Amino acid sequence: MNKPAWSHLRPAPRVSGLTSHGQSLALPSSGELDALYMMGFDEWGDGMAKDDYLALCRSSEKYRKGTWYAFGDAGGEPVASVIAYQLALASPTTIIGLGSIATKDSTRRQGIACRCLEALMGAYQSHHGVDAFLLFADRETTLYDRLGFRPLPAELQRVPETTAMVCYANRDSAESVLVEGLMSGHIRYF
Ligand SMILES: CC(C)(COP(=O)(O)OP(=O)(O)OC[C@H]1O[C@@H](n2cnc3c(N)ncnc32)[C@H](O)[C@@H]1OP(=O)(O)O)[C@@H](O)C(=O)NCCC(=O)NCCS
Repeated sequence: MNKPAWSHLRPAPRVSGLTSHGQSLALPSSGELDALYMMGFDEWGDGMAKDDYLALCRSSEKYRKGTWYAFGDAGGEPVASVIAYQLALASPTTIIGLGSIATKDSTRRQGIACRCLEALMGAYQSHHGVDAFLLFADRETTLYDRLGFRPLPAELQRVPETTAMVCYANRDSAESVLVEGLMSGHIRYF
């Protein structure tokens, strides 16, 4: 029997707070989620009408399996969003998956996605002893390179036009778990 599509994902532990520029990393209420979903509409809307796209996001099992974050500017307005997963592993290694990273259309190319990811990764590292962060880049990778992510070896790249990237905090404990998870197909694209 096939595994359920998202059985490797769990919601990541929750972190939040003010970052150093007065910007905030918050856990959105359910009423705020639509605004976060819409930040990625141009990339993931796939020609859909907005209402259909929102309906798809609201019912998405993958989205329900993660912990959503709203990154707010100094005035508290959400300007970026990201979802964090904890990968379900048999070992005590903690690997956090990051996905659906999007910045509001009107505020792109101002370093917001970079600061949002930096704040989130910093918070996980200081509060939850993370061993590695994993993401799948559907676009060019400069943003993630800057944050310390590196492409995984070619034999672990399974999804065309996507680059699986890792940022290790504790390579000794995470690398073999990650490689085995990807090779066996337990850890898959999210
Ligand atoms: C990708 C995205 C999240 C970047 O957000 P952002 O806040 O504009 O990113 P930043 O300003 O922090 O950019 C950091 C670096 O990423 C790269 N980058 C950002 N947007 C880029 C773009 N459209 N094309 C090429 N490189 C880009 C650049 O190297 C940039 O640095 P620079 O501005 O000094 O050249 C945003 O364009 C977006 O929401 N896109 C739609 C959703 C999406 O594609 N998400 C990523 C899925 S993997």
